[in-house]
Amino acid sequence: LARQDLAGERILVTAGPTLEEIDPVRFVSNHSSGKMGYAIARAARRRGAEVVLVAGPTCLDDPWGIETVHVCSAAEMRDAVMARVAASTVIVKAAAVADYRPKSRSAGKIKKSADALVLELEKNPDILSELGGVKGDRVLVGFAAETCELVENARKKLAGKNLDMVVANDIGQPGAGFHVDTNIAKLLYRDGRVEELSLMGKDEMAAIILDRAAELRKLGMRG
Ligand code: C5P
Repeated sequence: LARQDLAGERILVTAGPTLEEIDPVRFVSNHSSGKMGYAIARAARRRGAEVVLVAGPTCLDDPWGIETVHVCSAAEMRDAVMARVAASTVIVKAAAVADYRPKSRSAGKIKKSADALVLELEKNPDILSELGGVKGDRVLVGFAAETCELVENARKKLAGKNLDMVVANDIGQPGAGFHVDTNIAKLLYRDGRVEELSLMGKDEMAAIILDRAAELRKLGMRG
């Protein structure tokens, strides 16, 4: 049995992409596999936490012992997450939420006609920003996937969304992209510290992310 150091914690994890429908056949989404978020949810459960996983569409099996809530769009993910904030002590937002969705969903399949088609998109709610506004003494962990200016952009997210920690992934590096079982990340904290994690398995990285979240939680409870 793993060390039960997260017993008493109620951890809400989001994972996977969101899928925004254009019509009954097509959608806008991204390459997120959900592997990082699922790894965090499984590890938290093994270490004694009560875990709720809110997952966008992935190919992964529901993890044992974890309440898994399946959602499709960012709007659905927002509702599922906001309904569970009050009951959580730590929130890890590993999901790759689509920033935009089609402005309107066509009830029927869009027909092929003109040579060009313009798809109008509107902004999705930023779930993590909303969480930042209501977080209280919860530990809030966000993710940042970037192809350039990784640390600068991650730092902006940390401050702008009122997070305790950001897991910043340089998705341009081999071994850190989508669908792979490994990751390379930098962990950024409110006090300005940046912790560099080298290439490692997503299970191993999940363990470190939870170690740090647990430390932040203890610090928060003391302060
Ligand atoms: O701003 P950006 O989308 O790069 O931030 C990434 C972080 O914000 C991730 O933790 C992601 O889950 C979260 N996010 C969100 N709602 C959005 C967009 C991103 O919760 N609409």
